Amino acid sequence: MTMYYDNHRRKFLQHAALGIMATALPDFILANDKIINSKPSNTFRPDVEVELISQVAKVPIRPGTSTSVFKYYGKLLKGPKESLKTIPGYLGPQLNLVHGQKVRIWFYNQLPEPSIIHWHGMHVPQKMDGHPMYEIDYGEKYVYEFEVKNLAGTNWYHSHTHEMTARQIYSGLAGLITVTDEQEQKLSLPSGEYDIPIIIQDRNFTDNNQLQYIHGMRERMTGFLGDTILINGGINSSFPVKTCAYRIRLLNGSNSRIYKLGWDDGAPLTVIGTDGGLLEKPETYPYIMLAPAERIELWVDFSGREVGSTPELLNLEYNVATSHMHGGMRHGGRGMGHGHMGMMMNQLTQEETFTIIKFHITKKVGDSLALPKTLVKMRSLTEKDISNPDQPFSITTSMRHMSPQLNGRSFEMHDAMSVEKIPINTIQRIRISNENKLMGGMGMMMSMAHPIHLHGQQFRILSRTLKVKDISNSYTTVKDGFISNGWKDTVLVMPGEEIEILKPFEDYKGLFLYHCHNLEHEDMGMMRNFYIG
Ligand code: C2O
Ligand code: CU
Ligand code: CU
Repeated sequence: MTMYYDNHRRKFLQHAALGIMATALPDFILANDKIINSKPSNTFRPDVEVELISQVAKVPIRPGTSTSVFKYYGKLLKGPKESLKTIPGYLGPQLNLVHGQKVRIWFYNQLPEPSIIHWHGMHVPQKMDGHPMYEIDYGEKYVYEFEVKNLAGTNWYHSHTHEMTARQIYSGLAGLITVTDEQEQKLSLPSGEYDIPIIIQDRNFTDNNQLQYIHGMRERMTGFLGDTILINGGINSSFPVKTCAYRIRLLNGSNSRIYKLGWDDGAPLTVIGTDGGLLEKPETYPYIMLAPAERIELWVDFSGREVGSTPELLNLEYNVATSHMHGGMRHGGRGMGHGHMGMMMNQLTQEETFTIIKFHITKKVGDSLALPKTLVKMRSLTEKDISNPDQPFSITTSMRHMSPQLNGRSFEMHDAMSVEKIPINTIQRIRISNENKLMGGMGMMMSMAHPIHLHGQQFRILSRTLKVKDISNSYTTVKDGFISNGWKDTVLVMPGEEIEILKPFEDYKGLFLYHCHNLEHEDMGMMRNFYIG
């Protein structure tokens, strides 16, 4: 505690020295949170115990020279053997957990820089959430202990290091988490080899096969866009499949690229799950928008397909952002980052058509599982349950000194404003709006889509409204790809949009983050804390 006080005091003095006290002085401060959890608790009895070590590693990704990455190596110390599955490539092991299990994870940082792990989507106590205030240095360890409170679904873990999250995830620090429960097991969904998790990421490589990250401010503003799509940490080869039904779990693990997913033959997609678990019943969409950190689960039935055929999931064309030169010249809704200023290097623009995932039908099989008519019963959450019906907690995007912000502020490690204080065990109405036209570099007005993520429990979407009508042309290219019925922890807020959500704040007190999951934006400070208490 004394240590914390000193830290805070130092920060206070820095602020004072910079003369920014008036804006940076927090409304209230938490004084007891800087405690690195380096010891296991002796009252916690883990069902699953895992060791994760972050290390510099060399892995083969492209033909030729191997690629230097950061990688989580894992080892199962206790529990069912399927709890941890090693993945080739740079991604960390896949953790397969069961609702109700008690999990202990020993994290050892062997990187030459600080790091900390966040369990994205998992509902865990504050000290187990991987807040950047808990980052540990080379040679240190952090012990996580939590009970799996989540429903069956697909989550992930990744670095959440202060101002280094984007680069560390880019370098490889991420992995998948699946959770199963009784409700799901009763459904007999495709499992084993018929359950395929797919993590989509984009990267740039040098001629020598090394990862290349961002150059310069402009690229930071838009977020990183790579020219090579990687699948599960490797080159996008094809998945061999049989003529039957599959459950395909997709995670967009990219830093900032937003995908518009659609089948190459125009067939609709059948969705059975979102970020926080399964839907009540399957839904079909002509295409799906998948922003960074979002997950969807698809039911894909290959039974009508010819052996030898190669169905593909594509990124379809769309317009995500509007930008125009200050003074009028419009660029037909094309977003930033397209080289129309002759400055961008990446060849693969975000909004053009390209292949994301290839399947290859290798074998004909007799019968296939049938798509269930109903899936799971979801906890009902309606407007009646809201504690703050008339005063929604509002999250607004803004820009200051070339930095994207939330609620007019940049990230402050230990602070929350009084409006960011949320009473525990309430269900809050939250209004997220992205109506600002941001002033970018070189006199360019830009509005960007922001995938807004809230830590803690998953939420439901109440409404989406396009408030700024002059961009409805771009909006029509994406608007049928949003899924509004499932549990979410990340929601893509398009330029001009206002989204209302309902989020429970139950069980755990303390500082929890909310931020843009465009990782470059996050590291630039587009992140805040809310204080649950
Ligand atoms: Cu996936 Cu706060 O992050
Ligand atoms: Cu998270
Ligand atoms: Cu953003």
